[in-house]
Amino acid sequence: MLAHHWEQVYRTKDVHTVSWYQPVPHRSLQLLGGVLAPGDAVVDVGAGASTLADHLLARGPIDLTLVDISSAALDLVRTRLLASSPAASPGSSVRFVQADLRSWVPDRRFDAWHDRAVFHFLTDPAEQQAYARTVAAAVRPGGHVMVSAFHRDGPDRCSDLPTARYDADGLHEALGGDAVFARVHAERELHPHPRGGTQDFQVLLLQRR
Ligand SMILES: C[S@@+](CC[C@H](N)C(=O)[O-])C[C@H]1O[C@@H](n2cnc3c(N)ncnc32)[C@H](O)[C@@H]1O
Repeated sequence: MLAHHWEQVYRTKDVHTVSWYQPVPHRSLQLLGGVLAPGDAVVDVGAGASTLADHLLARGPIDLTLVDISSAALDLVRTRLLASSPAASPGSSVRFVQADLRSWVPDRRFDAWHDRAVFHFLTDPAEQQAYARTVAAAVRPGGHVMVSAFHRDGPDRCSDLPTARYDADGLHEALGGDAVFARVHAERELHPHPRGGTQDFQVLLLQRR
């Protein structure tokens, strides 16, 4: 079962050595930083143990929601954030949601949706379409979506699971296409694997129409 798989990952592995580990999520911070206003509502889906939350909180007031299928991953972030200075995040809030994105129904709208290395685990077209509908419903008109998924030249597996792979057009189309989201920015990112080599990602920043 998928939840068990990811729970095991976060209970047994050192999060600094997993293939997707980034000490600082530079591209996410730069791209989101260019579109966020103080106090914006941001959701990071499949947040894992990423330090994105720490860095966003350090930048200024934010209304942050972290979603993951693994409660162990969310616990790691909760503990880390509690240990950091509360003065770093005045006027901010963080909500932790343990949920499977394949069935999660957000109970509110967001100014920005962030997904790094999660959408590509959906290999069933019906699940990809359901995800696209969820994003379209959850992001307010004018809000932004940043998704990083394996590029066509990237790995076809990660964490022992098969992955889908995309170029910019394919990823944009899979997320609903131009009728739903205007393309703001697209780039490829070569992510350095902590144990050597690189992983090729397609990064997209979209704006909800
Ligand atoms: C490769 S990791 C990326 C983590 C984080 N975004 C980062 O950049 O460090 C994938 C994450 O997605 C979560 N995940 C995978 N499938 C999911 C699903 N169906 N619903 C919610 N979270 C999921 C996993 O638990 C894991 O934390």
